[in-house]
Amino acid sequence: ADGALAAAFDAAVAADERIEPRDWMPDAYRASLVRQMAQHAHSEIIGMQPEANWITRAPSLRRKAILIAKVQDEAGHGLYLYSAAETLGTGREELLDKLHAGRQRYSSIFNYPTLTWADVGAIGWLVDGAAITNQVPLCRCSYGPYARAMVRVCKEESFHQRQGYELLLALSGGTAAQHEMAQDAVNRWWWPSLMMFGPPDDASSHSAQSMVWKIKRHSNDELRQRFVDICVPQAEVLGLTLPDPDLRWNEERGQHDFGAIDWTEFQEVLKGNGPCNEERLTQRRRAHEEGAWVRDAAAAYAQKQTVVPNG
Ligand code: 3HC
Repeated sequence: ADGALAAAFDAAVAADERIEPRDWMPDAYRASLVRQMAQHAHSEIIGMQPEANWITRAPSLRRKAILIAKVQDEAGHGLYLYSAAETLGTGREELLDKLHAGRQRYSSIFNYPTLTWADVGAIGWLVDGAAITNQVPLCRCSYGPYARAMVRVCKEESFHQRQGYELLLALSGGTAAQHEMAQDAVNRWWWPSLMMFGPPDDASSHSAQSMVWKIKRHSNDELRQRFVDICVPQAEVLGLTLPDPDLRWNEERGQHDFGAIDWTEFQEVLKGNGPCNEERLTQRRRAHEEGAWVRDAAAAYAQKQTVVPNG
């Protein structure tokens, strides 16, 4: 029976059909999706911290309102993704326990500090921009709930990217000090944003299988290249320089050549030795503990709402 089920699964993936929660799927497919979707959800939740750092210090009410909306969206993306991961049979409590125990990852990018207000713009333009480049193909992922979650997430990410770009445009065209602050933020966020796409293809342990299953539709290096090609003209409009002396247009490739990424830094951050790893997890664990009463109250309330049939 498993042979027929496996054949049906392979045929569905080959035909670009969606695999749904009740469909048979290889255990390894399920496990890889739980791994990636959990880490994606963790990234959204941890990603709230660097930006939230500036909510109380936003320079205007308008900027504060935009930033609050964005951080709230990230929480919603986390909720979406934990819910999608739960369709694979793993509850969010278990996933959060793994995050808090350092046994599941979140995106390396959130282990860097937000030192000035301009970082909020650089995160919007670069980090959310990279997230969009990575997430648009995920809308065509073979697993239904993940692909559908991505459609809504991508729409909101576009607002995140646009507000960051506009924030940097305002600073870049402002006083010399504001321009310098924007340039400094781009200098610090550019290379870590390229690392968001994952290790080089020849060092990517999951890519080959993930592409066979049509979870990953383009390789890490392909999407990284696509992101660089998108950012170069945008940086020109912003009047900001990307901090890569080797960045240049390659006519015959029809793409930009760019400098070497420091993969040692990437591996160090993944090992937990980035600038903010400890701070992010400590804050996350504290938030989880302090939020226990909210979860208990919500569960108690929900319990009361379940109508007990009389008799
Ligand atoms: N940060 C942390 N870990 C990373 C990483 C990164 N930037 N890139 C790769 N890794 C890890 C992988 O998880 C894997 O480790 P594991 O086996 O313990 O899971 C290892 O490095 C090897 O990498 P692979 O390329 O083989 O792994 P994947 O095939 O999973 O590719 C990925 C990595 C491209 C990030 C893929 O997992 C993916 O597309 N994930 C969904 C997108 C996502 O998680 N985005 C987070 C960005 S932040 C965000 O979305 C918030 C936004 O609102 C700003």
